[in-house]
Amino acid sequence: MNILKLLEDRVIKALIAAGAPEDTPAMVRPSAKANFGDYQCNAVMAAAKKMGMNPRELAQNVIDHLDLEGIANKVEIAGPGFINIYLDAPWLANTLLSAVKDPRAGVAKTVHRQTVVVDYSAPNVAKEMHVGHLRSTIIGDAAVRTLEFLGHNVIRQNHLGDWGTQFGMLIAHLEDLERESQEATSMELGNLETFYREAKKRFDEDQDFATRARSYVVKLQAGDDFCLKLWKKLVDVTLEHNQEVYDRLNVSLTMDDVMGESAYNDSLHAVIKILDEKGLLTEDNGAKVVFLNEFKNKDGEPMGVIVEKSGGGFLYTTTDLAAIRHRCHTLNADRVLYYVDARQGQHFDQVYCIARKAGFATDHVSLEHHAFGMMLGKDGKPFKTRAGTTIKLVDLLDEAEERAAALIARKSGDLSEEQKVNVIRAVAIGSVKYADLSKHRTSDYVFDWDNMLAFEGNTAPYLLYAYTRICSIFRKAGVNESDVTGEILIENDAERELALQLNRFSENLESVAREGLPHQLCAYLYEISGAFMKFYEACPVNKEGVSPELKNSRLQICALTGRILKQGLDLLGIETVEQM
Ligand code: ARG
Repeated sequence: MNILKLLEDRVIKALIAAGAPEDTPAMVRPSAKANFGDYQCNAVMAAAKKMGMNPRELAQNVIDHLDLEGIANKVEIAGPGFINIYLDAPWLANTLLSAVKDPRAGVAKTVHRQTVVVDYSAPNVAKEMHVGHLRSTIIGDAAVRTLEFLGHNVIRQNHLGDWGTQFGMLIAHLEDLERESQEATSMELGNLETFYREAKKRFDEDQDFATRARSYVVKLQAGDDFCLKLWKKLVDVTLEHNQEVYDRLNVSLTMDDVMGESAYNDSLHAVIKILDEKGLLTEDNGAKVVFLNEFKNKDGEPMGVIVEKSGGGFLYTTTDLAAIRHRCHTLNADRVLYYVDARQGQHFDQVYCIARKAGFATDHVSLEHHAFGMMLGKDGKPFKTRAGTTIKLVDLLDEAEERAAALIARKSGDLSEEQKVNVIRAVAIGSVKYADLSKHRTSDYVFDWDNMLAFEGNTAPYLLYAYTRICSIFRKAGVNESDVTGEILIENDAERELALQLNRFSENLESVAREGLPHQLCAYLYEISGAFMKFYEACPVNKEGVSPELKNSRLQICALTGRILKQGLDLLGIETVEQM
């Protein structure tokens, strides 16, 4: 049940019945403080102003028409015209009971199913994935999982950087390596970073090599078999490496989701042609440029965006235009989400602007750049190794596992070796992902091992541990979740607070899916765990003297808390364990 949605519907009806305009937003929110009720409606003040009415008077009219029979037991006006809503405990208990019985924990699938194309991860060929790609990959994957869970048609697009002038030098270098020996080739390709660096070094230092590299770019673009073969080899090696990282990270991307830049090669001419037909192109020093009034350069003149270089050759922008066209017209997207570094903000604004003008994207499609900030080191500077080079993702994950292993060795004495391996993996990968996901995506954040591996605070270890505690309650009680039946009784404040929070899972996920902000889900799970700890202190389950009715009620509340934690963490791409 989505309580927020239910209250919004009822409030809208009441607002209209009280004479407010049809398009008045309901503005229902969870209340910030308990003495403002469980939810509050903030719509009245603005509506009253429009209607030329006294806000408190309108608030009273709205309340008179507000039908919350059996749902709320108190509705009151506060301050200048806020409406506070207090939900009825028996209604909360019943709603909770339906969630307990529902395999989806009370989260209905959407009735407005959309096709959502999600562009995320998008690393580059012949370069190892580094920490910069971590954010896109895990935030994008959390969004994708949430959208899918809500019933949307999600199409993952891994916009791999697999085309461009750098392939000339990469092909030339690979050619030489292969001539040398098979061994040397596989050695260098095993470490793409070295391979790329070597190629670049030769390109910068060796004239003949550079000339050959340039000729290969031209040949590659013309579809030369030899160049394509070597190019394909580089793409495959990179994809294999990336897939290992995705699997290790528990990220849902597969090879089937790869739709690299090269996939659009054949449609780039068509893109230019359409731009030309729409009168959007200007020749500027041999280059083809789209001038945009919406963007000004530093002299205050319309900004020019190059879409074809002089002498031919397309750009990152041209490919993105072709990609939008494909996503809107072939994949039939309702929304296209881009999980890309905030520094590419202007690039996307321009691409969207051109795409709308050219009709690559129709008006109804929502194009959204879900930007994110940088990962910083403890010194507040971009996260790098001590030597100042970028940190490879695999190295980071290795370190996470080492640290988690040390932590688990100290904490959990009585686990089998196999259990330990699973716990270490869950804690290590979970901590790295959760530390990132729990921050607002648009801000930069400091990568700090001690914080992310702490058992206190809004961290993965804390949530994973909370989940294991619930599992242990059932072990102690000697029952399975599915065996517990009966009513849910809400008898005290801690129980009521937890019941309210558990009933908010659905509205929370809707919000995450709408805004692409997984930190909201993290905050919610943290909140639930806190409410659960309080509940468990105030409401014993396995203690003597607790009546069977009460015990069954509480066990069901425990069960639902556990399922929501597990499901929520799964939507974040984080694995749970039953014991740690
Ligand atoms: N490969 C690019 C990079 O590493 C990211 C691509 C993002 N997606 C896009 N459609 N432009 O910066």
